[in-house]
Amino acid sequence: MATRDAVRPIAREEILRQQAIAREIRERPDRPLTYHLVTYGCQMNAHDSQTLAGMLEEMGMAPEADREKAGLILFNTCCIRDNAERRAMGNIVFTRKIKRVRPELLVGVCGCMAQQEGFQERLSRRYPHVDFSFGPGEIYQLPQRLLDAMEGRREQAFRRGEDSTLYEGLPILRSSPFFAYQTVMYGCDNFCSYCVVPLVRGRERSRELKQIVSEAQRLVDEGVQEIMLLGQNVNSYGRDTGGPRFEDLLRALGQTGIRRLRFMTSHPKDLSDELIAEMARNPAVCPHLHLPAQSGSDRMLAAMNRRYTRDWYLERVRALRQAIPHIGLTSDLIVAFPGETEEDFEQTLSLARQVRFDSAFTFIYSPRSGTAAARLPGRIDPEVARERILRLIALQEDITREVLRGLVGQTASVLAEGLSKRDPGQLTGKTGRGIACNFSADPDRIGQIVPVLITGQGSKTLKARQIEKENP
Ligand code: 5AD
Ligand code: SF4
Repeated sequence: MATRDAVRPIAREEILRQQAIAREIRERPDRPLTYHLVTYGCQMNAHDSQTLAGMLEEMGMAPEADREKAGLILFNTCCIRDNAERRAMGNIVFTRKIKRVRPELLVGVCGCMAQQEGFQERLSRRYPHVDFSFGPGEIYQLPQRLLDAMEGRREQAFRRGEDSTLYEGLPILRSSPFFAYQTVMYGCDNFCSYCVVPLVRGRERSRELKQIVSEAQRLVDEGVQEIMLLGQNVNSYGRDTGGPRFEDLLRALGQTGIRRLRFMTSHPKDLSDELIAEMARNPAVCPHLHLPAQSGSDRMLAAMNRRYTRDWYLERVRALRQAIPHIGLTSDLIVAFPGETEEDFEQTLSLARQVRFDSAFTFIYSPRSGTAAARLPGRIDPEVARERILRLIALQEDITREVLRGLVGQTASVLAEGLSKRDPGQLTGKTGRGIACNFSADPDRIGQIVPVLITGQGSKTLKARQIEKENP
């Protein structure tokens, strides 16, 4: 288990030093004037990109939607599965062509791919058109890395750093005035046998409760209605510090006046009764939980090192539904893990049928180097894997449609995020359960939580209209 000693909090002075470099870059006539930021992967990366954008703007750069025109192209990468990696690599390689025409272009690569053993060396050696790279634990170093690149200190610009850092007080460019991400903990100690995250994001480090709550208070004062708390396994918040646990954090955040709290990701093995009770009691906590099951087969769960059984998972679902009857559950499911038989796979189908998730992300197992599962025998034929995932997707689509149909006629509340892209006469947003909803309402309700009556459904979305008041 990680201890407090393993954590190296970034001193305020280090952040100030980076800010001084940022100011220096801002004054330089040879700095890039615009940036094009490409983000792959999970919400944690999306959140990191908001921080990167905040820092780039501090350095006097403006966003540029067209990569062919940007002064700096920065890739915030993901390595969770092979296809995420291949897509990023294809685009990184492509920037060589742009640089041939505009040699002053700067190219940077950060995120989880950059933290893989040996990646930065290979990148620097094979792709001389890439100028700098840093891992997800070092985003606060962006000004230094950029300056190293601008001044041709290639070795420093590609230095692989430690991953045991916590940082506070970086600027951030939020995508919406009503919604914000907050990281509550970094890293993961679970070592699910297929997963590369613990290797690239390091050991669990919880931020201090006080810091998170005062940041949330600032967000609420600025008009934020919904906060999504992020961590690879938020249920183990506080385990590394011996301090307050996740339910204590939710309680404290509830007192900031925030209207909606969501969080992800939760590990079923750590979903405690205390947390469920707090979710039920705290009016700000949305009736939604993303609870990745991964598989419905005990044999596969053991091989995945998930440390719970199918029965345990189903029992937690019962406890959740008993405490919060209208809760919507979503999940991640992996098919074709090494050794998965047709019977194992059918157990996953039957779990999905039994739980009736609102929706699920489905993945074909992708071997990741350095993980325990990459050494397992029993690779599944790609044709079989494809056939299984299609069956699972078809089943889940049916279930989603049925769940949505069951909601028609009920009331809900929706955070109005903006005008619907498809139908600008409508507003769009998410219900408390996290389901996308298009509804007719006055555009001046954007940014507010609006009570609606659900009047219909699409395949993944709800249709609704504004009403006076939501039924209890
Ligand atoms: N192959 C396929 N899916 C994976 N996930 C994580 N690692 C892998 C892998 N090697 C999935 C899990 C996890 C989600 C974020 O990605 O379902 O919950
Ligand atoms: Fe990966 Fe498992 Fe940690 Fe999630 S809990 S990040 S799947 S090791």
